Amino acid sequence: MRDAIERTDFLVIGSGIAGLFFALKAAARGTVAVVTKKTSAESNTNYAQGGIASVMSQEDTFDLHVRDTLTAGAGLCREEVVRTIVQEGPARIAELVELGVQFSERNIPNQPGRHELDLGREGGHSKRRILHAKDMTGREIERALLAATGRQPNIRFFENHISIDLITTQKLGASGPNRCLGAYVLDKRSGRVRTFAARQVVLATGGCGKVYLYTTNPDIATGDGVAMAYRAGAAVANMEFIQFHPTCLYHPKAKSFLISEAVRGEGAVLRTYDGREFMDAYHPLKSLAPRDIVARAIDSEMKRSGSDHVYLDITHKPAPFIMQRFPNIYRTCLELGLDITKEMIPVVPAAHYQCGGVVTDVDGQTEIAGLRAIGEVACTGLHGANRLASNSLLEALVCAHRAALRAVDVSEPIETDLPPWQSGQAHNPDELVVISHLWDEIRRLMWDYVGIVRTNKRLQRAEKRLQNLQAEIRDYYWDFVVTSDLLELRNIATVAELIVHCAMQRPESRGLHFNLDYPEADPAWAQRDTVVRRSI
Ligand code: FAD
Ligand code: SIN
Repeated sequence: MRDAIERTDFLVIGSGIAGLFFALKAAARGTVAVVTKKTSAESNTNYAQGGIASVMSQEDTFDLHVRDTLTAGAGLCREEVVRTIVQEGPARIAELVELGVQFSERNIPNQPGRHELDLGREGGHSKRRILHAKDMTGREIERALLAATGRQPNIRFFENHISIDLITTQKLGASGPNRCLGAYVLDKRSGRVRTFAARQVVLATGGCGKVYLYTTNPDIATGDGVAMAYRAGAAVANMEFIQFHPTCLYHPKAKSFLISEAVRGEGAVLRTYDGREFMDAYHPLKSLAPRDIVARAIDSEMKRSGSDHVYLDITHKPAPFIMQRFPNIYRTCLELGLDITKEMIPVVPAAHYQCGGVVTDVDGQTEIAGLRAIGEVACTGLHGANRLASNSLLEALVCAHRAALRAVDVSEPIETDLPPWQSGQAHNPDELVVISHLWDEIRRLMWDYVGIVRTNKRLQRAEKRLQNLQAEIRDYYWDFVVTSDLLELRNIATVAELIVHCAMQRPESRGLHFNLDYPEADPAWAQRDTVVRRSI
């Protein structure tokens, strides 16, 4: 018996801040299906610590926020996009507050009983402008958005459903401009592949930290959205700009736990293995310099000393302040036997954020009609060559709002009957060890050859190895029944290749992309994106 097609006005793939905010807004105008590959809360959003950057104080201005974003972006931001996102931030923040998000406040000095937002500071920001919920901002936002979307009868959630591929007119062999019609989605519990048809498909699948061996990202971050969009024929850009967060906890029992940049914003300093402060040799802002500079400085100090980590030291701050401002970091470290009020925190850089992605305008429109991409999966031009801290939650909010406004204007009904998924002669995988081995191999080679510091030779090696691995994965993909591990493996391999191809296209060092063979920025490459498209 053929499965019925799931029909919906809006198919949203992903349930982080971007997907949920879009769903909430679109639900007023049509039916929404939110497909998400684990439980609804599991997302990068849920782990965001530092907060959301927005101009909220009298001492701050939109111009300053724009300037800081452009400076961090190292000549590659789209200024009109930066301005739009910065200027629309306060209105979207107000909506979050209306939905019940509780940002941290502080007492106003000399005004008993009166409070104001407790604005934090992070690297590259010239003003205090980070709204936060202690050190668990993402969890608070995700909680409020899930509660709000849960109250909407027009929104249906499909948990443990992983989207495999987009369905487009081009793939169905139709002539005319390419249009997205829906997606094939694996129900992980039953193993069935279901067909979703939608007037608008929205990729809100987040980033790709899991392409690297060491990352701050949770397991969901396998670049599925970029890989699906690329296979569907959309342009992908600037994937060489992978942001490495300087301070991931270095502890054998802690899998990818971030020590927020806000800790440095409150005065913590970086020290070498033997206790020496070193950032003054690298940048006037010292430990609060932009992330690319801090991550490279740590990498260089570790290589110089042969040590496997450096330290972050906040012990000079009063213990009650640390415990109150960073309760999650304090508690997590204490559970691992480390009292951060008394001891320095061992840290290493780790892959954190994908600045490039599926090319979109500021309304999330991709090159393919009926397909939008919002949040970390998208490349709007906000981040350029390096994202300013806490600008990504802001981008996701503003672009989700704008995408929902535009999507309801332009959607047309889908008349086509979509063909069901064909599994052909596929049989159950015989040796799952092959999949886990390929996963490890890709993540390690990306870390070793396409990490914080690159060279032409390392990139060429990575390219060659990835070509061989891709061939193996292709055989496996067509011979065996799809599982989520196999789908994610195929996606990390594709995204790894895209990162390498973008990196090889850029003969200079700029922002997060540092190549020892071209250690300087080349003015001829300012404002030039590295764009890749699948040849069809
Ligand atoms: P996500 O929140 O990652 O959501 C993606 C969703 O897509 C998930 O639900 C996932 O399960 C789903 N999904 C993915 N692939 C598929 C598929 N194939 N099928 C179905 N579902 C799929 N940014 C800031 O601005 N401020 C911060 O303080 C901050 N701190 C951070 C701390 C950490 C530890 C990390 C990892 C990131 C942090 N970031 C921060 C970055 C920020 O959290 C993310 O960029 C942002 O949350 C991305 O939101 P999103 O909605 O685009 O994607
Ligand atoms: C952090 O809290 O350091 C993360 C902030 C960000 O990634 O924007």
